[in-house]
Amino acid sequence: MKILAIESSCDETAAAVVEDGRKILSNIIATQVEEHKLYGGVVPEIASRRHCESIVGVVNEALEAAVLTLDAVDAVAVTCAPGLIGALLVGVNFAKGLAYAANKPLIPVHHIKGHIAANYIAHPDLEPPYICLAASGGHSQIMRVESYTKFSTIGRTLDDAAGEAFDKAARAMGFPYPGGIYIDKASQRGDKTKYKLPRPHTAEPYDFSFSGLKTNVMNLVHNAGQRGEEIDVDSLAASFQYTVADILTSKFVAAANEYGYKVAAMAGGVAANSGLRSMLEERCAESGIKLYVPPIALCGDNAAMIGSQAYYEYTEAGITADGSLNAQATMPL
Ligand code: KG4
Ligand code: ZN
Repeated sequence: MKILAIESSCDETAAAVVEDGRKILSNIIATQVEEHKLYGGVVPEIASRRHCESIVGVVNEALEAAVLTLDAVDAVAVTCAPGLIGALLVGVNFAKGLAYAANKPLIPVHHIKGHIAANYIAHPDLEPPYICLAASGGHSQIMRVESYTKFSTIGRTLDDAAGEAFDKAARAMGFPYPGGIYIDKASQRGDKTKYKLPRPHTAEPYDFSFSGLKTNVMNLVHNAGQRGEEIDVDSLAASFQYTVADILTSKFVAAANEYGYKVAAMAGGVAANSGLRSMLEERCAESGIKLYVPPIALCGDNAAMIGSQAYYEYTEAGITADGSLNAQATMPL
């Protein structure tokens, strides 16, 4: 089954064709990041407008690269939630129009379920059940993946998502948007023990809280500036990255052990972080847990992951939408 998938939840206009949930036939991404960089973050209205301008070209490119016509695909899938509402609406309406015109089933996909499905493309042997750590710009969650379409949350962030904390801490350190990757690179030159950063306590053991940590970094930079002191940015980046990775990894591995999982996966933009990847790999191995991680290219937003999840939504749960499909800014898993 060949699915044409569309993703427009944030600042990437993406389209892909995926076969049977596991094989990428094409995967096209038009990123707007350079434009949002000028403002230090995503400007929602600009994002919507750029999606509007790019979506026809991106979808055509995805079909051309897969050497398929719209008639030859079996279904159209689209990210319907969560994300920036104006951005989501562009993809949802475009997908509705395509599905209607070509008389194909329309499959709505939850963005975070898509991030998790990126693992199915990269790892043909991965099957539920397993435990997953999803960490992106908008989400940080530990969840049980009970089947391809059934999920339950064990823990979540109470405030900032991990990616959001990376981006805001990076901004304080003087890095451009999105700052996660800049912190990652600077960390490699820094001393992770130089700055002692707080580890916020949460009442529930598998919940996260990153806003205190982020604020601590911002205050540290601000206070140093007022005193005319130099910050060792590389070491601050390394200390911050180590602290975030340690919080995520400790809680995730403890949850995996408590719930008895021997198979685990990681997903979302923050899964690209080199410090987090190596720490998780090491500590999962120590606990005898097999860890699946998507390749860096599939960690960030893309439509291939949406096409993968759509296959399972359709074949396992029989999910389709009609012409009344709407986008939602928030949606539980
Ligand atoms: O999943 P994603 O592409 O979009 C959302 O669904 O939010 O995640 C984007 C987030 C941003 O906060 C970005 O800074 C972060 O992922 N990110 C990273 C790295 N690459 C991307 N964070 C830390 N280290 C990285 N290498
Ligand atoms: Zn995402």
